Amino acid sequence: MGPLEMDATLLRIYSLIKRRGCTITVFFLKLIHCESIEVHCVTQTTQKTSLMKCKSLILMVFSKILRPFIQTSLQKAKPCRAEACQCKLGRSADKVTFRHFLNASVFLGMLSVPFVTHAQTLDVMHWWTSASERSAANALAQAFNSHGLQWQDAAVEGGGGGAAVKVLKSRVLSGSPPAAAQIIGTMLTDWADMGLVLPLTRVAAQEAWKQQIFPEVLHLVTHKHQPIAVPLGIHRINSVLYQRTIFDKLEMPPPRDWAALEGVARRLRNAGITPIAWSDENWQVATVFEAVLLSYAGPELYERLVRARHPEAWLDRRVESALNRLRWLRDLNGPMQRQESNWIDNVKAFHAGRFGILMNGDWVRGELLALTGSSDSSSYCAPMPGTEGMHLYSIDTLSMLKGSMSKQSEQEKAAALLTSVTLQRSYNRVKGSVPVLKDIDPKLLDSCAHESWSTFANPRAHRVPSLAHRMAASEATKEAAAGVLQRFVLNRGVSAQQTQQQLAAVMRTLLKENSRK
Ligand code: BGC
Repeated sequence: MGPLEMDATLLRIYSLIKRRGCTITVFFLKLIHCESIEVHCVTQTTQKTSLMKCKSLILMVFSKILRPFIQTSLQKAKPCRAEACQCKLGRSADKVTFRHFLNASVFLGMLSVPFVTHAQTLDVMHWWTSASERSAANALAQAFNSHGLQWQDAAVEGGGGGAAVKVLKSRVLSGSPPAAAQIIGTMLTDWADMGLVLPLTRVAAQEAWKQQIFPEVLHLVTHKHQPIAVPLGIHRINSVLYQRTIFDKLEMPPPRDWAALEGVARRLRNAGITPIAWSDENWQVATVFEAVLLSYAGPELYERLVRARHPEAWLDRRVESALNRLRWLRDLNGPMQRQESNWIDNVKAFHAGRFGILMNGDWVRGELLALTGSSDSSSYCAPMPGTEGMHLYSIDTLSMLKGSMSKQSEQEKAAALLTSVTLQRSYNRVKGSVPVLKDIDPKLLDSCAHESWSTFANPRAHRVPSLAHRMAASEATKEAAAGVLQRFVLNRGVSAQQTQQQLAAVMRTLLKENSRK
C-alpha cells in the first residue's frame, strides 16, 4: 500500500468513527489477517484523570514505539473495505493498559494522533501553577466542560511567565502552537500580523464586548481594529499587603506614604520581625520597581518611561530616587545573600507571620485566599505609598492561536464564554484580580478588590500599564530591563545613575529594533 492509499484507509476509518457518532476518546485499530479493520472504541466511562493518564500513556507509546511499526504494517496490508469495519462500544478505558499493547499479537496500532485528540479539546498554555492560580484555571476549565469543550492543560511553571513564554515561542516556531495561550503585548501583535492569531471580531460582536468591557481593556487586546485576545481579569501591581496579626499587635495602621513606611519598618525590626518578603528573582524585582517608579515619577513621567519608552526620560532625577528606594527596600531585612525565593513560598511565609510586608501584584491576595479561605482576614491591603488613586495594571488574557488543524469554532466558543458575568466573578475572586466588565456590582467584591476595580473604573484615575508583565513593551524589553534592575539590587558597586544609563541604553536599542520592523 502506498502512502496515498494508507492515508485513504485512515481517512475511511476516521469517517466511519465520526459517522457512528461515538463519544470516543481512544481508538484501537486492529488489522485482522490483513483484510478487515475492526475499530474498538473506548467510551468515556472512567474518571477524567485516569483517562488523561491513559491518554498520555497511549500517546507516548504510540509516538515513540508504535507509529513506525504501524506505518510499515499498513504499507504491507491490503486496504480494508469500509463496510467490513465494525465499531464495538462498551469497553472501559481502565482496561487499557500496557498489556493491551504487549499481548495483542493482532493489535497493530492505534489511529494517528489527530484522531486521538478529541475534536472539542483545546490545549491551553499558561503559567498558573500555584494553588490559587490552579483554582482559577479550574474555574475556566469547568466552564469549558459545561459547554462541551475540554480544557487540556499545558501549564509551564514559573512566576511571571518567563519560562512559559519561551516554551510558547518555540511551539509557535515549530508549527505546533497551543490552541489558546496566556499571552499579550507586542509578541502577540507581531504574531497577529503574521496571521498566527485568530481574530475574535465575531465573538466580540456577538458578546457585545464594546458595551460590556472597559474601553482601556478592549483597546489593549485590539490590534488593527480586531480583538486578538480575550481579557480575563485586571491585576493591580501597585498593591501592598501588610500582615494583619502583626500590624494589629503593634497597633500600626497600613502606611500610606514613604515616611510612614520607614517608621513601620523600624518598629517591625525592633519587634524582631523581618520587615519584607523579598525575592531577587528578576521579574519580582521589576514588579516592585515599577510600582515604586510610579510613586516617584508620577503618572505622566511613568507614561513617557514605560509606554513611550523615551530613552532620555530614564535619566530623570525621579528615576534615580525610585532606584534608591528600591535598594532601600532590598536592604530592609539587613545584609542578605542573593535570595531568589519563589513568590508562592513568600506568600506562605507572610501568611505564617514571618514577614510584615508583601509587595507583588495582587495575585498574592488570591494565594492568601487559597491559604485562608477568606482574602481579607490575614492582611491589610493598600496602594504602594504615593500611588493612591492610581492603577498600575496587568491584564491576564487568553489568545487563540491558529494551528495545523482548524479549531476555530471551538476556539470561538471558548472565547465567548470567558467573558460571561458569572465566570468573570468566580474566576477573578480566586485569582485575586478584578473583572474586566464595567457593569458589575462592586459591593460584591472584597475591600481590596473593590478599591482596585473602582480605581480602574474611575475615568479621572490614572491607569498605567505594567512593563514587568508585558502590557506596554516586548518580552525583550521587559527581560533586558529586569536584568538591569536585578544587577542593581544585587551589586552595591553599581550606582543608581549607572543603572539609569543602562536602562536608557536598553530603551534606545530596542526602540531602534522596533523602528526597523
Ligand atoms: C500574571 C498573573 C500570575 C503572576 C504570577 C503575572 O504575570 O499576570 O496571572 O499570577 O504573573 O505568576
